[in-house]
Amino acid sequence: MDKIRIVGGAPLKGHVRIKGAKNAVLPLMACALLTDEEVVLRDVPNLTDIRTMTDVLVHLGADVSFEGNVLRIKAANIHCCEAPYELVSRMRASFWVLGPLLGRFGHAKISLPGGCAIGTRPVDRHLYAMEQLGADVQIQNGYVVAKSDGPLKGNKVIFQLQTMGGTMNTIMAAVLAKGRTEIINASAEPEVTDLARCLIEMGAKIQGAGTRRLVIDGVDSLHGTNHTVIPDRIEAATYAVAAGITGGEIYMENAFLHLMEDVVFTLTYMGLDVIEKNNGLIVKATGCELRATDIATEEYPGFPTDVQAQVMALMCLAKGTSSVTENIFENRFMHVQELVRMGADIRLQGSRTAIIHGVPKLSGAQVMASDLRASAALVLAGLAAEGETIVNRVYHLDRGYDQLEQKMRVLGADIERIKGLPEE
Ligand code: UD1
Repeated sequence: MDKIRIVGGAPLKGHVRIKGAKNAVLPLMACALLTDEEVVLRDVPNLTDIRTMTDVLVHLGADVSFEGNVLRIKAANIHCCEAPYELVSRMRASFWVLGPLLGRFGHAKISLPGGCAIGTRPVDRHLYAMEQLGADVQIQNGYVVAKSDGPLKGNKVIFQLQTMGGTMNTIMAAVLAKGRTEIINASAEPEVTDLARCLIEMGAKIQGAGTRRLVIDGVDSLHGTNHTVIPDRIEAATYAVAAGITGGEIYMENAFLHLMEDVVFTLTYMGLDVIEKNNGLIVKATGCELRATDIATEEYPGFPTDVQAQVMALMCLAKGTSSVTENIFENRFMHVQELVRMGADIRLQGSRTAIIHGVPKLSGAQVMASDLRASAALVLAGLAAEGETIVNRVYHLDRGYDQLEQKMRVLGADIERIKGLPEE
């Protein structure tokens, strides 16, 4: 397995371009199953998660090609509606083909995703929504087997608790259903809005995207489209922290304040300057001490769960005591013990809150990545630490960051990938 070696201390300075959002591309790929015409997605990052979703679509019979950040999908010859364990266990987002397959073909057999490093992550709300739309849903031998007699039927889907994946699956199931579907307490994440935007371009009738109430009037068929994916607010937040933690200045082209206001407010409060400029954001350290703060993850537009680990790395070096409360997932503090190995002073209070006492410096160490965003936090800590940091299990990073070490090297980081053997 590959490792990343970092020698900390260099301030990151320069220009980086933020790519399309992974969490938008994955559902957009699934939504291409809703038409037999070609769906073209632009500004797609080169990530293992995208390749896994490609494997899922190809397994179902779609033609998929990826060249120069342009992904082309044609689902004219779907010959199978089953997503096997081998693919869904590699990546949970594979489960998002349930809605489109059921909506277009009236049946789907999808492996249950199972647990994950950050929590149990059940799919009960997805299944409830499919049942509300008239599907018969059974669990058989680790698979969700869903069928409907004829097209799905529009109905009210009320999410007692919000679910981003569940909202996306429901939208994709409802666009070809007969009649009107109303999703109450829908997720309003920008990636959900982007999915709705793409589906509207394909001929779907969706109102309320970006709000908590979506109204979808089913149509008979959808057509192809050419869609540019929204920028990755999580990638942008990661580079913003990189500027802050190294005392540098980074111009992030294709990063936008309206997609990440809560993160920008937090970083500004902590003492960074964030300036909107020319289709992007400049983030720079002011030279003053970082100030401690408190964050709690919430659904959009609250503080994103996908950025808490990275900001925790920054808090490790802030003056005073910070706290992070994780409200979305029950087990998302696996990076804490690794940061402690680098000299951070962090204590867990129960399983949902971390208390971070700022320290003057971190020191390089061997650390182990446990999930995608935790890995990013360890790289960020390594960029600021004295001496050498080795981040193991880099395959997590490759799921969500396109050319991370190349981009950071251009910004001045002393960072390299050490190639390992697959069985290491
Ligand atoms: C979540 C995040 C998303 C992030 C992604 C990967 C939110 C609102 N969503 O999306 O920003 O990119 O993780 O880190 O922050 N749940 C159930 N039953 C269900 C569905 C979900 O109990 O059927 C629970 C989950 O276990 C979790 C919470 O609800 O605790 C939110 O889940 P959901 O929004 O669906 O997660 P993702 O779509 O994976």
